[in-house]
Amino acid sequence: MGFRFDLLLFALVVLATPVLSDLVLSKVDRRIDLTSQIVRSVSTLKVENAGSELVTEVLLSFSEHQAKNLAYLMATYSEGKGKTKGSGVGLPVKEVNPKGLPSALTFYSVTLPKGLGKGDSFTFNALAVFTHSLRPFPEKITQADIQLFVFKDSAYFLTPYFVKVQSLSIKLPDARIESYTKLENTKLHGSEIKYGPFENLLSLSFSPIVVHFESNQPFAVAKELVREIEISHWGNVQVTEHYNLIHGGAESKGEFSRLDYQARPHLRGASAFNQLVAKLPPRAHSIYYRDEIGNISTSHLWGDSKKTELLIEPRYPMMGGWRTKFTIGYGLPLKDFLFQSDGKRFLNITFGSPMNELVVDNLIVKVVLPEGSSDIAVSAPFPVTQWQETKLSHLDIAGRPVIVLQKTNVVPEHNQFFQVFYKFSGFSMLREPLMLISGFFFLFVAGIMYMHVDMSISKSSPSYLAKLQWDEVQTTIQQLINIINRCLTTHDKLEASLRDLSRTGDVQACKAARKSADVQLKELSKELKPLLTFLQSSSSASQIYLKVVELVAKEKELQEKVLAKHSTVVDGYEKKSGARDIENRIAPQQQKITTLRQEVDNLLELIDEI
Ligand SMILES: *[C@@H]1O[C@H](CO)[C@@H](O)[C@H](O)[C@H]1NC(C)=O
Ligand SMILES: *[C@@H]1O[C@H](CO)[C@@H](O)[C@H](O)[C@H]1NC(C)=O
Repeated sequence: MGFRFDLLLFALVVLATPVLSDLVLSKVDRRIDLTSQIVRSVSTLKVENAGSELVTEVLLSFSEHQAKNLAYLMATYSEGKGKTKGSGVGLPVKEVNPKGLPSALTFYSVTLPKGLGKGDSFTFNALAVFTHSLRPFPEKITQADIQLFVFKDSAYFLTPYFVKVQSLSIKLPDARIESYTKLENTKLHGSEIKYGPFENLLSLSFSPIVVHFESNQPFAVAKELVREIEISHWGNVQVTEHYNLIHGGAESKGEFSRLDYQARPHLRGASAFNQLVAKLPPRAHSIYYRDEIGNISTSHLWGDSKKTELLIEPRYPMMGGWRTKFTIGYGLPLKDFLFQSDGKRFLNITFGSPMNELVVDNLIVKVVLPEGSSDIAVSAPFPVTQWQETKLSHLDIAGRPVIVLQKTNVVPEHNQFFQVFYKFSGFSMLREPLMLISGFFFLFVAGIMYMHVDMSISKSSPSYLAKLQWDEVQTTIQQLINIINRCLTTHDKLEASLRDLSRTGDVQACKAARKSADVQLKELSKELKPLLTFLQSSSSASQIYLKVVELVAKEKELQEKVLAKHSTVVDGYEKKSGARDIENRIAPQQQKITTLRQEVDNLLELIDEI
C-alpha cells in the first residue's frame, strides 16, 4: 500500500519538478535471470526527452529490499547505429539523493554520453545484480524434499518516469514451477514467464508479482573469503585463499543419510552440492586444496592455454545450512602479473574469487609486497575499503607492507583487474653486479633470468645482501610448504581410494590409485631435495632449517604409515578377509597416522608463520 501512497505523493512532486517530467521511457524491456542463486536483471531502456531543456542524467530506482541486496550495477550502450552486438561502452553511474522523491527508494543516476535535446532519444542497458534475493520457502526441508524459492518483484518497471510501453520476462531454472502471479498478458513458455506488454504507466507504478519455483543450483555463499596475494621478486606470485563457505539455500532438517544420497542423489539431496569449480589463471602451478582438518576427498585439475580449472569435491555433499572451511593455494608466474611503468612496478590481477557463481558476503584481499616497497597506491574499478598492515617475519628489518582491500556483497561481476603500484628501492641499493653475490645465488640464476632483474645494479651493503638472502629463504620455504601440502593431498587421495574400495569392492581401481600416488610422491620428494640443499647452505636459514628437517621427516614417516595402511587394506580385500579383521589390523596404524598428521599440521603452521 505504501506504493500507492508514494504514487500520490509523487503526483504532487512531479508538478514541482520539471526536470523529471521532461523525460519519458518510450520503451522498457526487462529480463530477470533466476537460473542461479545470483539474480541478474538486464533492462533495455529507451529514454526520450519530451521537454525542451537539455537532459544529461537518467535516474534508476530501487526499492528498499532491492537496494539492500544490490551487489553490482552497470549501465552500457552500444556505439554506432543498429543492433551492433559486442560489449557495450560503460556509462558513469553514481548514487544520488534527488529531492522530492520517496525516501524509501534508492536512486542511481546514469550520465548520458551527451545531453538529450528536445525530442531526442537514447537507448542503454542497465545490469543490476542482486544477492540473497531468493528466499527458500519452505525454509527448512528434509533430504527427500525439493528446494523451492520465492522471488518477489513488480511486473512494472520501478521508475520515476512515465513509461509508454514495457515488458518483463523471467527466466527460471529448468525445473518445477510451483506457482506464479498471473496478470492479464502473462504467458509461460517452457521455463520463462512473460509479463506484458503494458502501456502508458504512470511513474512509480507498481504491481507485485511472486514466483515460487524449484532450484537445485549450488547456493554456495562464502561468509568470508580472505585472499592473500604475495609477491616475491624471485619470480612468483603466491595466492592463498581461505574460504568459510555455507550452503545458503533451504536449511536441511532431520537425519542425513549418505547411503540414500548415493543411491538416489537426484531424489535424496537434489539441492546439495558436492563440487565447486575454480577457474584459475593459465600457468597456475603448485596447486593445492585442503580443508581445516585435511579432510578432503578429491580435487581434479585440467586446463589449456587460457585457463586452469580446479574441481573440488568436499568429502561430504553440502546440504542446506551446512558449513565448510577450506584453503586453496597456487603459484603464478610473476611476469604474467607484475609490470613496470614510470619507474614504478605494478601488480595487475583480478579481485574476486575464481569460484563459479559464488557469492562472497565479506571479501578481504591482502597484497603482500616485498620489503622495501614504498609509494604504494591502489587503483580499483569500484569502491573498496582500504588499509595497510605490515607482515613481519623474524629476520625482516622493517617487515613487508601489506595492502588490505575489503568489500562486502561480492559477485562474479567484481572479478575485475585492480592494480597495486609501488616503488621498490631494494635493487637500487645493490650497487655491485649480482654475479658477485656469493654462494647459493648461483642455484637461482635461472630464476633471476626469468624475472628480468636489472643487471645494471651496483654497490653492496652487507645488511642488504643479508636481506636479499632472507627473501630468498622465504620463497624457498613457501615452495617447500607447497610441496608438503601436495604430499598431504596425495595422502588424502589414498584415503579416498580406500573408501571407494569399501563401497565398490573394486581392488583394481584402488591399486591404480596407489600407483599414481606412488609416482606423485616420488616426484614431490625429488622436488624437495634442491630446496633442502639450499636451506642447509644458507646461513640466514639456520634457525628454521631444523624445523624444516623435522617437518620433512614427519611427513616421510606419515607417508610410510599411510602407504602401509593402504597395502594392509588392499591385501585384506584380496585375501577376502572380513571387514572386522581388516579394521583390527589397521587400528594401530590409524592411530599413528592421526598423531603424525596432527604433528605435520602443527609444524606446517609454525613454519608458515615465520
Ligand atoms: C573427516 O570428517 C569425518 C566427518 O566429519 C570424520 O569422521 C573423520 O574422522 C574426518 N577425518 C579426518 C582425517 O579428520
Ligand atoms: C591488466 O590486465 C588485463 C588483462 O591482461 C588488461 O586487459 C588490462 O589492460 C591490464 N591493466 C593495466 C592497468 O595494465
